[in-house]
Amino acid sequence: MTPDLMESGARARAAYDTRIAALTQGGGFGRPVADGEVVFTQGVALYLDAVTVSFDGFKALNALSLTIDVGELRCIIGPNGAGKTTMMDCITGKTRPDSGTISFGSNIDLLRLKEPQIAGIGIGRKFQKPTVYEPLTVWQNLELSLKADRGVAASLFHRLSGEQRDRLEELLVLIHLKDEAPRTAGLLSHGQKQWLEIGMLLAQDPKLLLLDEPVAGMTDEETERTAELFLTLEGRHSLVVVEHDMSFVAALTEGRKKVTVLHEGSVLAEGLLAEVQANEKVVEVYLGR
Ligand SMILES: Nc1ncnc2c1ncn2[C@@H]1O[C@H](COP(=O)(O)OP(=O)(O)OP(=O)(O)O)[C@@H](O)[C@H]1O
Ligand SMILES: [Mg+2]
Repeated sequence: MTPDLMESGARARAAYDTRIAALTQGGGFGRPVADGEVVFTQGVALYLDAVTVSFDGFKALNALSLTIDVGELRCIIGPNGAGKTTMMDCITGKTRPDSGTISFGSNIDLLRLKEPQIAGIGIGRKFQKPTVYEPLTVWQNLELSLKADRGVAASLFHRLSGEQRDRLEELLVLIHLKDEAPRTAGLLSHGQKQWLEIGMLLAQDPKLLLLDEPVAGMTDEETERTAELFLTLEGRHSLVVVEHDMSFVAALTEGRKKVTVLHEGSVLAEGLLAEVQANEKVVEVYLGR
């Protein structure tokens, strides 16, 4: 390498370190993404390479490698214990891998950030169980997420700008809860709570959304509407959806998108749903049961 290149490499690294240091010190929970922090020049939103996680010697992830493009909607399927949730735990900083690389955009090394900072730079996660503030109204729940960097009390007394109100109205329509805005969240159906939680994530405008079994416990109609919602979000956000419900996965992939099959902590197969469904190894470990 020429001295010039070495110097520019060192400069880039120093700039990166400064940016990460700023994130590490200033990053409050749910802090919105500041322009220019994450760079998506290569069309890649999320990159995992050779990620391994062991629990007492058992490899929950075993050299897992995966790339999600900007705006892509990717479904991840696989048997119980395949490592799907563990993968999300690693991306969001809840679990530290033993080895491997996880990066966001082309410039953020997620393994150097803590959980709240990862949420703050635009990675939203939906757990299986909805976690909304039950005593508050639907509107208040959304309002809180929009202003998650203030405390709960401060947020409720802080007035929304006209633009923020418009944004919340828009979100309410998107998540099919417009008529429920003044209702107490605790009174919503299970499916509606799931939508509210998705709305709360969207209020923070994440670049990447991780959704772990989002339609578990939903009625067929709620499941269909959730598929519609995710298809609307595709392109504007990158989505990683883990699901066992194959008709839901089929609706999301629309016969043309790739799905990834995980098994024993690594990728067993990747391709169109019809292709992986016909794959003997996949049938044996998962679909044939
Ligand atoms: N904190 C932990 N300590 C010990 N073992 C764990 C821990 N978390 C996960 N595991 C194990 O790692 C493996 C992968 O679990 P994981 O929850 O990621 O699977 P999954 O693909 O999400 O399965 P499911 O479809 O049932 O949700 C399982 O064998 C699980 O028991
Ligand atoms: Mg799981």
